[in-house]
Amino acid sequence: MLLPVLVSFLAVATSFERGHGPAYHQHDVLRRQVGTQPYNYTGYLVPSYSISIPRDHFTDAGHGMYNNRYFINDTYYQPGGPVFFYDQGEEGISNTTAARVLAETDGTTAVMELARQYDVLAILWEHRYYGLSPPFPMVLSDPPRFSPRPVYEPQGAPESWQYLTIEQALEDVVYFANNLKTGQYQNTHMEQLSPKKTPWIWVGGSYAGDRGAWLRQRNPEVIYSTWSSSPPTQAMFDGSTFFNGVLRSLPSNCSADVRAMIPHIDTVISGKQGEEELLKLQRLDYVLGLATNLSNYLPGSYNISEAQDVFTPSTLATRLWQAFSTIIYQSYGFSYTSRVFCDALESYAPGAPGRIQNDSYLNVVTNLGTSQPSPSGFLAQHNGNLSLGMEAMMYATHVYQAYYVDLVFAVSENSSDSPPNGFADVASWEYQVNSQFGWIQASNPENVTIISQYFNISYYQQLTEQQYLTNATIAELPDRPGVAEINRYGGWNINPSNTMFTDGEYDPWRAATVYSLESQLGAPGNVPTTEIPACGQPPKNGTRYGTIYPGRVHVPDLAEEWYLPDIDADYSPLRIGLDLFTKALDVWLPCFGEDEVDGKRKRFVA
Ligand SMILES: *[C@@H]1O[C@H](CO)[C@@H](O)[C@H](O)[C@H]1NC(C)=O
Ligand SMILES: *[C@@H]1O[C@H](CO)[C@@H](O)[C@H](O)[C@H]1NC(C)=O
Ligand SMILES: *[C@@H]1O[C@H](CO)[C@@H](O)[C@H](O)[C@H]1NC(C)=O
Ligand SMILES: *[C@@H]1O[C@H](CO)[C@@H](O)[C@H](O)[C@H]1NC(C)=O
Ligand SMILES: *[C@@H]1O[C@H](CO)[C@@H](O)[C@H](O)[C@H]1NC(C)=O
Ligand SMILES: *[C@@H]1O[C@H](CO)[C@@H](O)[C@H](O)[C@H]1NC(C)=O
Ligand SMILES: *[C@@H]1O[C@H](CO)[C@@H](O)[C@H](O)[C@H]1NC(C)=O
Ligand SMILES: *[C@@H]1O[C@H](CO)[C@@H](O)[C@H](O)[C@H]1NC(C)=O
Ligand SMILES: *[C@@H]1O[C@H](CO)[C@@H](O)[C@H](O)[C@H]1NC(C)=O
Ligand SMILES: *[C@@H]1O[C@H](CO)[C@@H](O)[C@H](O)[C@H]1NC(C)=O
Ligand SMILES: *[C@@H]1O[C@H](CO)[C@@H](O)[C@H](O)[C@H]1NC(C)=O
Ligand SMILES: *[C@@H]1O[C@H](CO)[C@@H](O)[C@H](O)[C@H]1NC(C)=O
Repeated sequence: MLLPVLVSFLAVATSFERGHGPAYHQHDVLRRQVGTQPYNYTGYLVPSYSISIPRDHFTDAGHGMYNNRYFINDTYYQPGGPVFFYDQGEEGISNTTAARVLAETDGTTAVMELARQYDVLAILWEHRYYGLSPPFPMVLSDPPRFSPRPVYEPQGAPESWQYLTIEQALEDVVYFANNLKTGQYQNTHMEQLSPKKTPWIWVGGSYAGDRGAWLRQRNPEVIYSTWSSSPPTQAMFDGSTFFNGVLRSLPSNCSADVRAMIPHIDTVISGKQGEEELLKLQRLDYVLGLATNLSNYLPGSYNISEAQDVFTPSTLATRLWQAFSTIIYQSYGFSYTSRVFCDALESYAPGAPGRIQNDSYLNVVTNLGTSQPSPSGFLAQHNGNLSLGMEAMMYATHVYQAYYVDLVFAVSENSSDSPPNGFADVASWEYQVNSQFGWIQASNPENVTIISQYFNISYYQQLTEQQYLTNATIAELPDRPGVAEINRYGGWNINPSNTMFTDGEYDPWRAATVYSLESQLGAPGNVPTTEIPACGQPPKNGTRYGTIYPGRVHVPDLAEEWYLPDIDADYSPLRIGLDLFTKALDVWLPCFGEDEVDGKRKRFVA
């Protein structure tokens, strides 16, 4: 197992390893830290199967076939029951993940609860180029520019990346549904399981939720209904607004302080506040880095003059980003991430003795945080003294960093459900991000809010590309991902029939979902409705069938929450989502087969 390293881009790397795509959930660690349920993954093995699929669905040029994996639980299946298709999205499926999703070893899951109620055949699908479903073997490549570790790519790259597209991967499911009988899974009702005879119902979150919505629109004759949780259906290069979800969840004092301080620190970095302030910042950053393990760096054991030599704006900007990193935040929400930073920031006690007192910089970052937080914020309480605010920010960064190290360390050391080919998954995800999705979650220098302009989109894009992809592949990628190809499904405006959309109030990815609040970018401001649309009919424009879970983050409803939210602990997004979806299915399922037009099921009625 790799240990997290806390410097600059390596911190980014560490986060990505364990959380590369939007759907990646870091289950274990918080359950152990704050959860109550014991877990035991051993002893369950959900059977896996494979089906031979064309690498290229759209041309006849003999591109060959590959084996794609899927898992099935038919415990509750009764002939005539529907198929529920749970899409894993951008992550390979480990045996423990399969057991968690299809055998509920870690608590109830939406797909199996539905399976019990509707006599369902439950399928778990692995996406091409992830896990053990690569169209070409994933092989070690030359070390890329910034990577201290191995990087994988499909044999024959960069050409062999060409089949990793949204369209190919959507068509995989169409092919699978129409050819399930040729796959390894067999029972006596294979004919019956065709989407012509049996409703196929999609359940998925995040990118997998996108795929369900896109497919319901693209192939309504195959996917009859979809539960799409937290789907970023709008592709966009600039993902800076993803931080707005984080920002909205911060207490007003912390939010006011961070919004004032980040642009100020940027001007200090740029030299506009003078040499003295810059030197102060550099020195605070230096000791903050050293002091992570205080026992190694007693005062006097280092040379503070080096601070200027080693200081880089991006290192500092990366540290400041960590407390608001959407990667971590999206799984746990404010309570277990940014709150640690905010509490420290608001309780910084200027001038009070820290744990190490005879060094003025170490004294700042080892402050004891004994001040009473003020409702109006630290700056307001201190006459808007930005130099003092900078000290408070560096102290809070130090506190958060120690917390973050523990979190990441625990996640990487003891996670029991690592995907079977995690390194390869990261490369595949980076390829998809840079070829089609965008969603680069860093600051936009024109609209800096809580992320420094030195941690901006182009910096972050380069960094991640150069960590996980080879020069040859990068050279083949477009400068900007081709988002238009995806957005033709409707983006924020997508509105297929028989579809439920759900999301968490503070989900960073909400910026790209049908419930986006980012009207300044053109988001339509759809609101959820619990009025069930007639089958085959989309809801009224401006509404979507579904709900927003207060206080929650990314995909909170497809399984039991594994952490204890501080808000409404009795409120269960899983139960609420299931209730809404079953009520809708009871309306939609009876219409199955009634809406054929020219042998194809109607797309949708506008
Ligand atoms: C975990 O479950 C398996 C199968 O039920 C059982 O054999 C094993 O003893 C359990 N382990 C623990 C630590 O409870
Ligand atoms: C199917 O699901 C049930 C309920 O979660 C579980 O007990 C059973 O082990 C699962 N079977 C397989 C083969 O995954
Ligand atoms: C801190 O450094 C000391 C001395 O090198 C070492 O024994 C200890 O394990 C380190 N602690 C952490 C958390 O890395
Ligand atoms: C701070 O105090 C420690 C011992 O308490 C001493 O070893 C160290 O040299 C002092 N550092 C400075 C910068 O005065
Ligand atoms: C401290 O660092 C400065 C700048 O790098 C260097 O010029 C100086 O020699 C160093 N002092 C010692 C005692 O190493
Ligand atoms: C001020 O900050 C503290 C510490 O983070 C927080 O608990 C409190 O809710 C905040 N108050 C307001 C009014 O934002
Ligand atoms: C702001 O705080 C700094 C300490 O960081 C102090 O030196 C300075 O005098 C303060 N400025 C004002 C105007 O109070
Ligand atoms: C990981 O698990 C081992 C064995 O249970 C335990 O000793 C260790 O403390 C755990 N590490 C973390 C970071 O939780
Ligand atoms: C999953 O289980 C199968 C069947 O026991 C085994 O062959 C395979 O190696 C396991 N996969 C992983 C990644 O552990
Ligand atoms: C940045 O702010 C401007 C002015 O408010 C706005 O027009 C633009 O859409 C914003 N861009 C992003 C990516 O938020
Ligand atoms: C990749 O390109 C960079 C500069 O563009 C170069 O420094 C590096 O050596 C190249 N790596 C390989 C493996 O060719
Ligand atoms: C729905 O509303 C959006 C935003 O107002 C608009 O762009 C779109 O064309 C509308 N769609 C339909 C089908 O009326």
